[in-house]
Amino acid sequence: MKTRSGLVMYGGLPDEAEAFERAFSNERLPIRFVEDEFAPDLACFAKDFAIVSVSHRANIGKMELSALKAAGVECVITRSVGTDHIDIQEARRLKISIKTSPYSPGSVADFTLMLMLMVLRGVKAGFRNARETSQGSAVCGKELGDMTVGVIGPGRIGNAVLKRLEGFGCSVLICDREQSSTSVSLEELLASSDVVTLHVPLTAETHHLIGRKEIDAMKPGAILVNTGRGALVEAEALVDAIKERRLGGAALDVVEGENDDPSQNKEMLRHLETLCAMPNVVITPHVAYFTDHAMEDMARSALRECREHGKEGGRDE
Ligand code: COI
Repeated sequence: MKTRSGLVMYGGLPDEAEAFERAFSNERLPIRFVEDEFAPDLACFAKDFAIVSVSHRANIGKMELSALKAAGVECVITRSVGTDHIDIQEARRLKISIKTSPYSPGSVADFTLMLMLMVLRGVKAGFRNARETSQGSAVCGKELGDMTVGVIGPGRIGNAVLKRLEGFGCSVLICDREQSSTSVSLEELLASSDVVTLHVPLTAETHHLIGRKEIDAMKPGAILVNTGRGALVEAEALVDAIKERRLGGAALDVVEGENDDPSQNKEMLRHLETLCAMPNVVITPHVAYFTDHAMEDMARSALRECREHGKEGGRDE
């Protein structure tokens, strides 16, 4: 009889895998690495483990969960705070527990501020090369301290963004699901903000939180920043608004359909290509979280889960 311990990590990037390897070898807990993202035909690698770690890029739907269940997996830890890639109800039905990996909110908050500043200073259009800019082709920027910044979703990351904004001396507006004396309605925030930044999870309610109607309600020339989830923003409406110069630009670490197979979702690929080519749009490939600090945090929370699981006894074989 043997209690399953340790974890199998699917789809880990080299830095993630290294952080996990360090943490697990310090504790002498077994860890197996499978380079590919989780897919049902890879569940066989999990059969000696009760816990698997997956990335936000893996779709964990009914088929995947049933393959995990058949392999004896009891817990899935996602290396993200978002769980929109997991069928939570089905996991509950199959009695597979789902855990997230809280990590330093400063990782995403720093990146959000960097993206805001990049768009406000016209980095993409203006800094082509030093020779050109010295000849006067730089874009005349705007200062963050002169702006009103609207923060939608003051959770851990939204709050870390707010803390950083204090140092820039700008005015801030906050929109929270839980109405409070410090928060304003979405309508008010959109109508009054020069920069709008999104920090809410993706759920059925927040899908296309910023659609055509909301973009029309934004201040002319405003900038949209999204380091949350792509589908919070209707990509087609955003493309149109920037083309028509109703918005001043966008900074996107996430884009609707980013994890879709490009051959299956040609429309999204077209939107992504259009946005990438726009001089006032900065796009990064969902890397706002990617710091050494965040990697260590994720490895530590996976370790904690494994220890807890061990204490609870896990499943004997
Ligand atoms: C999340 O934590 O949900 C993120 O978006 C970052 C993740 C890819 C690690």
